[in-house]
Amino acid sequence: MKILLLGKDGQVGWELQRSLAPLGDLVAWGRLDADFLDPEALGARVRAVRPELIVNAAAYTAVDRAETDEDRARLVNAVAPGVLAREAQARGAWLVHYSTDYVFDGSKEGAWNELDATAPLSAYGRSKCEGEERIRASGARHLILRTSWVFGTRGANFAKTMLRLARERDTLDVVADQVGAPTGAALVADATALALYRIALSGREADSYSGTYHLAAGGATSWHDYARHVLARAREQGAMLKAGPEGVRAVSSSDFAAAARRPANSRLDCIKFRSRFGVVLPDWRHHVDRLVDELVAQEQGQGKP
Ligand SMILES: NC(=O)c1ccc[n+]([C@@H]2O[C@H](COP(=O)([O-])OP(=O)(O)OC[C@H]3O[C@@H](n4cnc5c(N)ncnc54)[C@H](OP(=O)(O)O)[C@@H]3O)[C@@H](O)[C@H]2O)c1
Repeated sequence: MKILLLGKDGQVGWELQRSLAPLGDLVAWGRLDADFLDPEALGARVRAVRPELIVNAAAYTAVDRAETDEDRARLVNAVAPGVLAREAQARGAWLVHYSTDYVFDGSKEGAWNELDATAPLSAYGRSKCEGEERIRASGARHLILRTSWVFGTRGANFAKTMLRLARERDTLDVVADQVGAPTGAALVADATALALYRIALSGREADSYSGTYHLAAGGATSWHDYARHVLARAREQGAMLKAGPEGVRAVSSSDFAAAARRPANSRLDCIKFRSRFGVVLPDWRHHVDRLVDELVAQEQGQGKP
């Protein structure tokens, strides 16, 4: 199977380079290979590769910047994925595309399921919502996988920021009124590959898997408790920190002057993904602990002669 991966250098894209490799002949592109700000040129390049599966991990993910840059966010998150879907439909290929908890307004009491109405609060959320709609309208066989609070070993992430700040300061102020599931990029990539493998083995049933799914780690937490967990784990592993979990102060979203509004409740109900693909989605702490352990080990390794 010929697979084209787009967004290879992002958090999820980096892990997909690993998890998709055993599934077929993988071609992986970054921004320099295909710029989503020019969707028609992107479409022509994709056509030339003749993929049987397109996996799109590229996205405009600067949530606050998108508020004043909505046209570019729309090109990358909505128009370009629509072109990918058109190309997939024309070739009978599958398209895997990632979306977000930010398509919801956060007002629900329980976890959001795939049938809940979308109502994004931000320009980023609107652009991701439009991307989903364009893919569904294309008629291409697709997996739209909505995930939340992604972190990876590459690039900046919340855990790294908390560890850096905890080395510099005695106290940290962290938002306590937004809940969700921190989800490792490695989990997203592994679960994607397992779902695709299941589809590949399903023969004539394959088309029945096409649709939208929620894919996030198990459990839920607030940013505040997430930060406390990261610092407690790092201390256990021997990290030298000025601020421990007791130094993390709870504040409300309104105390931060972020440009974009975020949903208060980002919890995603992942029963559909788990039951259709037979995949276990471990508790969020599983991959967070691995990340913290790796970061602390790296720091300790650097200290050695
Ligand atoms: N991060 C989260 O917390 C989160 C939460 C929910 C859902 N998601 C979704 O999950 C997916 C993966 O997110 P991620 O966290 O892996 O994102 P990420 O780390 O920000 O990676 C996005 C990738 O897209 C590339 N890209 C941006 N603009 C582009 C353009 N004009 N042309 C081509 N490539 C471009 C970036 O290239 P450069 O490396 O050159 O910048 C980067 O490699 C996205 O669909 C995102 O919306 C993310």
